[in-house]
Order: sequence, then structure tokens, then C-alpha cells
Amino acid sequence: MSAETGIENISTILVIGAGTMGRQIAMTAALGGFATIIQDISADGLAAARTELEGWAASRVAKGKLEQAKATAALEALGYSTDLDSVATKADFIIEAATERLDIKTQIFEKLGVLAPAHAILATNSSTLGSSKVAEVTGRPAQVCNMHFFNPALVMKCVEVVRHETTSDATVETTMELARRLGKEPVLINREVPGFIANRLMGAIQREALFLAEEGIASIEDIDTTARTALGHPMGPFALMDLVGLDVIDFIAQATHAETGAVEDAPNERIAALVAEGKLGRKSGAGFYDYKG
Ligand code: 3HC
Repeated sequence: MSAETGIENISTILVIGAGTMGRQIAMTAALGGFATIIQDISADGLAAARTELEGWAASRVAKGKLEQAKATAALEALGYSTDLDSVATKADFIIEAATERLDIKTQIFEKLGVLAPAHAILATNSSTLGSSKVAEVTGRPAQVCNMHFFNPALVMKCVEVVRHETTSDATVETTMELARRLGKEPVLINREVPGFIANRLMGAIQREALFLAEEGIASIEDIDTTARTALGHPMGPFALMDLVGLDVIDFIAQATHAETGAVEDAPNERIAALVAEGKLGRKSGAGFYDYKG
């Protein structure tokens, strides 16, 4: 097969990273009818992903939102592995959703460049690191792009497909088509810009929300209520930051600020303080709100 991989060449998808995003991206792929492997260096992380996905599928079936046969087929289509070397050779399309650290991602993409079949497309789910940063080490930069999903990935329709300067048209088209086959509505970002579209919009709203709260103009509860009841947002900015994870929000700000140097992109002190206290949002039981009750 050539580098001009089309959607018809994709039967096996590998998702690297079994965290919040990776596990739901993998289930989305399995539900889309693809043989899907989740790889993570942590066996515990894989076990937690399996438990969550089995529980999610059971509750969808119980709610009457998913046919039992489809749930069973998707769960059976999912494979779990701690060994990247052996599974990378089997994948036609790879979505990396590992820790947001350039050194880790560079190591992974270097390995994928050697191990993955020549036709395989190598995508990163990163929200902050443009794929140009890892494209060259793969030896196949034209087959590298960002494919950015949103939390919770089983629910949110958007996928941002971001091309870097030498991403081929075929790679873009195949990635967009794959997202459609997964029931998503992909959007194309023609050149790398910090935050792509969604995180730039979300960042602007968060900045205003933090300003209003810090100035004592309104409580976080009332700011969140206003976003919901005046603007029709499904959740307010503080609840959303808790959902995404305050560590992730802080990391996005740090990475964006490092790239732009713009004052408005600087990390927020209140968020940094919450992260330092271990208050990361929903996943840790507390953030702007308390979830322990
Ligand atoms: N995992 C899987 N499914 C979930 C879920 C989760 N964590 N949370 C909710 N759902 C499902 C529910 O099962 C339910 O499905 P159903 O309607 O088919 O039965 C549906 O979502 C709605 O859930 P609820 O009724 O419990 O609650 P809401 O109606 O409030 O919806 C929400 C929850 C989907 C999270 C909604 O509030 C929402 O859309 N919030 C905004 C989310 C958002 O903006 N995400 C983007 C974050 S930015 C990002 O991810 C980028 C990254 O780079 C930082």
C-alpha cells in the first residue's frame, strides 16, 4: 500500500493512552466497527479503562440507547495491551492520546515511524502540541496530523483535524472521513495555531469568567448559571473546567503562553493554586466545586 491511504485501507485502529480521552476514543472507534487496540504502559490504567467502558456499555443498554448486540460487538472489538512494539505493527491508523509531554510524544512517534505499517496514518489527539513537533521523527511527516477529540469523547461531536505544513491532502481526507465514520462532525484547521478553534473560544470565555469571579462581581455559581440560562451552554465555564480537569486547563495555558507570550494567555493563579492543592476537578473529587457529597 502507498502513502495515499484511503478510508478503505483502515480496519485496525490503535489508540495510545488509556486515560480519560484515550479510552473513550477507543470505544468510539470500536462502536464505529473498527478492530481497536488500546495501548498504555500501565496495566492498571488499562484495567480501569476496561471497567469504565464495560460499565458505560451496560448502562447504555439498560437505558435502551444501545443495542446489546452492538455493545457486545464493540467490547469484543477492543483489545488491550501494554506492549506498544507488538501492537504498532498491526495498526492502519494510530491516535496518540498519551500524556501531554513533548518528550514522551516524540519518543512514541519515533517508535511508530519505525514500527507502524508504511501506509499507516499517525495522528495525535493533543490539544496543545501541533503535530509538526513530532512529524519529522516519524520519517513520514505527510502522514501525520492532529485529530483532536473533546471530553467526553463518546458524546461530543466535534473532532478538530489540524494539518501541519506538509500533511498530505490524502491524510487530511482520510482522517476527516474516519471521524465521520465514527459519527463525528470533523472540522479542518488549515494551519497550526495554539488552541486550534475550540480551546481558543473556551479560553476566551474562561478568562472572562475568572475575571468576573476574581473581581467579586458574581459568584462562580451565578456565572455558570448565566452561561447556561442566558447563552444556552450545556454547562458553565467553571463546571466545564472541572470536567476537563484543572491540571489540563493549567497545562493548556502554560503551553499556549509559552508559544504566544501574550498576557491574556498566561496561566491563572487561582487555577494553579487549586492544582497545587490536588484539586483537579471532578476526577479528584473537588475543583471549583465539591463532588464528594
Ligand atoms: N462519558 C460518557 N458519556 C457521558 C459522560 C461521560 N463522562 N457524561 C455524560 N454523558 C452522556 C450521558 O450518558 C447522556 O447520554 P444520553 O443523553 O444519550 O443518555 C448525555 O451524555 C447527557 O448527559 P447528562 O444528561 O448526564 O448531562 P448533560 O445533559 O449535562 O450532559 C455533557 C453532559 C455532555 C458533559 C454536557 O454537559 C456538555 O456537553 N458539556 C460541555 C462539554 C464540553 O464543552 N466539552 C469540551 C471540553 S474541551 C475539551 O475537551 C478539549 C480538551 O483539549 C481540553
